[in-house]
Amino acid sequence: MSQVTGDTDVVRSGDTDVVPAGEHSGQALVWNHILAITDSLALKCAVKLRIFDIIGGHGHPAISLSDLAASLPTPCLHPATLLRLLRYLSHMRLIDSHAAGDEPSFSLTPSSSLFLVGTSTQSLASFITVFLDEGFLGAMHALDVACAGGGDDEASAFEMVNGETVFGRAERDVELNKIFNEGMAGSGRITAAAMVEGAPAAFEGLGTVVDVGGGVGTVAREIRRGFPAIRCVVFDLAQVVEGLEAADGVEYVAGDMFVSVPRADAFLLMWTFFGVEMRGVDGMHACS
Ligand SMILES: C[S@@+](CC[C@H](N)C(=O)[O-])C[C@H]1O[C@@H](n2cnc3c(N)ncnc32)[C@H](O)[C@@H]1O
Repeated sequence: MSQVTGDTDVVRSGDTDVVPAGEHSGQALVWNHILAITDSLALKCAVKLRIFDIIGGHGHPAISLSDLAASLPTPCLHPATLLRLLRYLSHMRLIDSHAAGDEPSFSLTPSSSLFLVGTSTQSLASFITVFLDEGFLGAMHALDVACAGGGDDEASAFEMVNGETVFGRAERDVELNKIFNEGMAGSGRITAAAMVEGAPAAFEGLGTVVDVGGGVGTVAREIRRGFPAIRCVVFDLAQVVEGLEAADGVEYVAGDMFVSVPRADAFLLMWTFFGVEMRGVDGMHACS
C-alpha cells in the first residue's frame, strides 16, 4: 500500500521504495489514459439507451431507478447492472445521483441537458454514436499497423480496416450518411455560434464565403444569421447536399474539393482536412 508522507515531495510504498510525488501524478495520468475508453463507451451506451432523454422527459427533476428501468427502449432485466452504469455516469458528472427516498434517483447535469439529450438543438448524440461505432474504433485498433506501413502510404487506418474511406462508406450506407451528417450538424451548431460571436472581424467585408466540406449547412446558416450580407455557399459531396434546397441566403453545390471548388472571398474548412492533409493541400488549387 502506498502512502503520502509528511514530506510532500515523496510517496512511500512499504518500507523500502520511495516514489517522487511527480511520479505519482504521472501514474494517475497513465491510469486515466488507459481507462478513458470506459468513459467514452459508458457515454455511448447511455445515448443508445436514451438515458438522458428519459431523465429529461420524465416531468420531474429526478427519476427513480425503477421508473428509469421501466422506460428503457428494451426491457431491463438487470436493474443492478443499470444502477452500476448510472453510478458511473454520475461519477463522470453527466447525471446527478440522489440518495433520498426508498431507492436512488437521477437528474440531468448542465452538460447532459445542454449537449447530450436527443431533443436538444445542440445535441451531440449522433456525433457520439458515429465516432464511437465499430468502424471508427476498429481503425483506432489498427493504428499500429498503419504506423508500421501495413497498407497504402496514403490510406488512413479507417481505410485499411474497412477497405474504404469514411466518405466512401457513407456514400453507400444511407444510415451512416444520415447519422454522420446529423453528428456534424450537432457539433457545427455549437462551434459556429462561438465563431460568429467570438471572431466577427474574420467575416468583415466578405461578399461570398464557401464552406468547403460544409455538411448540411449548419455552420453556413449560423454565419448567415450573424452576417446577413454574406452569400454563403455550402460545398460538399453529392451524397450530402443532393436534394437540399437553397434557402435564407445559403446555397448548396455538390462536388469534389480535390477537383475544383466555387469561387469565393473566403473559404471555410472546418474539420475537413483530417486524414487527407497532403492530398488536400496539393489538390485544392483549382477554383471554378
Ligand atoms: C467531418 S465533416 C465536417 C463538416 C463540417 N465542416 C463541420 O465542421 O461540421 C467533413 C465533411 O467533408 C466532406 N468531404 C469529404 N471529402 C470531400 C471532398 N472530396 N469534397 C467535398 N467535400 C468532402 C464530407 O462529406 C463531410 O461533410
